Amino acid sequence: MSTVTERSVQLFDSIESLRTARAKLRAAGKSLAFVPTMGNLHAGHIALVKHAAERASCVVVSIFVNPLQFGPLEDFANYPRTLESDCAKLDAAGVDYLFVPDVPAIYPAGTTRLTEISMPELESILCGAERPGHFSGVLAVVARLFHIVEPDVAVFGEKDYQQLTMIRKMVSDLAFPIEIDGVETVREEDGLALSSRNQYLTPAERQIAPTLHKTLKATAAKLRAGAVDYPALERSGLRELMTAGFRPGYFSIRNADDLSRPAKGTSKLIVLTAARLGNARLIDNVVVST
Ligand code: PAF
Repeated sequence: MSTVTERSVQLFDSIESLRTARAKLRAAGKSLAFVPTMGNLHAGHIALVKHAAERASCVVVSIFVNPLQFGPLEDFANYPRTLESDCAKLDAAGVDYLFVPDVPAIYPAGTTRLTEISMPELESILCGAERPGHFSGVLAVVARLFHIVEPDVAVFGEKDYQQLTMIRKMVSDLAFPIEIDGVETVREEDGLALSSRNQYLTPAERQIAPTLHKTLKATAAKLRAGAVDYPALERSGLRELMTAGFRPGYFSIRNADDLSRPAKGTSKLIVLTAARLGNARLIDNVVVST
């Protein structure tokens, strides 16, 4: 006779219940890896979960569509909320805990006049220049989630490279006892980075979308071949995207460690871009070691 072991992800919607589970883990000497998400999970998120499972005895995922990181004209209200299918995917991936708080649980005093974490330089460049308030919203929620979950390790995707850079800095500057791991971007076969926002693309736009990654890769190849006129490379990247039909926000070559403008000959660079295509705002990046 065979026994079937059903493994199901345990759901928590209150901070108290999650904290009780966390305390039990600690008492049992088990480590915890954390993957914060806004749900609408795809293979990119599952790659984060798989990485998390390699880093700790247990994995907790959070799903919380954070109102603070959306601008007034952005897609907060319409952001896809797909809890049922997300749960099934997390179950299949062997996730132990799922934390699904509501807005009052995370922001009990409301969403205005909050304690904020500010990084004036980093939050005002690249995506931050196009999305005022976005990164202070991200840091607000990630700091709160870190305090609630108390993970040993937290895992983020490299696709959101500026977010990852700022979270690393917050953790280092504010001495959070948490390791931050970045996981390589998962792509479709044609190179398009997986993103919940790809579903806003029409079939015709979907054909054009891989040009974003192709343009980044072509620029990376030029950098590897010794090109050092960064402004010229940025202008040419912008031109290529516009020709393909994008409305690019930026196409920028930066120091991969801190996103500052690189001096000629900087050895670890990153090429980052954000561009609108129809109703979708897509971002992507390629790291280049020269
Ligand atoms: O990358 C995301 O999905 C979000 O910005 C995060 C880190 C879950 C914070 O809301």
